Amino acid sequence: MPLRYWKTGRVLYNLFRNMKIRKMKPSDFEQIVQLWKEINVSPEAIADDKKNFPLMLKLNPSTCFIAIENKKIVGSIFGLFNGRRAFIYHLGVHPDMQKKKLGSELLLSTEKALKKAGTNRILLWVDFDNLKITNFYNKHGYTVCSDAVLFGKNV
Ligand SMILES: CC(C)(COP(=O)(O)OP(=O)(O)OC[C@H]1O[C@@H](n2cnc3c(N)ncnc32)[C@H](O)[C@@H]1OP(=O)(O)O)[C@@H](O)C(=O)NCCC(=O)NCCS
Repeated sequence: MPLRYWKTGRVLYNLFRNMKIRKMKPSDFEQIVQLWKEINVSPEAIADDKKNFPLMLKLNPSTCFIAIENKKIVGSIFGLFNGRRAFIYHLGVHPDMQKKKLGSELLLSTEKALKKAGTNRILLWVDFDNLKITNFYNKHGYTVCSDAVLFGKNV
């Protein structure tokens, strides 16, 4: 579908549904946790984020978003910029709302905000047990980084 029709369509759809996308606030945390549970994000990931959530938003006040419909959070995304590279985490849309372009809208809002913050490259990772969604990221221009492996260490 040409972009302009898609854009008009999603704006009308969101107006009709009383949906909006806004910047994330510290007070959104509990509802975001609830959303992640409904999406089936692992409980460890939720526990890890609780402590650092307000700090994360303080450091990234303009690049993390939620989608909200009738006061219920139905989508979330964390866009984090470290001064050089940007990372996207925890993009999620409520199961009842998936495949209606809300994930795309959250991703595009975050890309725009991260670009404005100063980055020219965004990285994200997809778990091996979730590779079915690579199609979604491919559609948005993301390609696999075949020149690197992700390393991690608990400190
Ligand atoms: C991934 C996710 C955010 C996509 O959000 P969404 O609102 O359902 O996606 P959209 O409607 O914007 O889809 C855009 C395109 O991606 C495709 N797509 C979306 N989800 C897909 C999936 N699971 N498998 C294959 N293609 C998919 C759509 O078909 C659509 O293609 P089209 O433009 O040709 O119609 C959503 O499925 C989700 O929350 N999944 C569970 C959590 C998750 O895995 N998050 C990613 C962590 S890395």
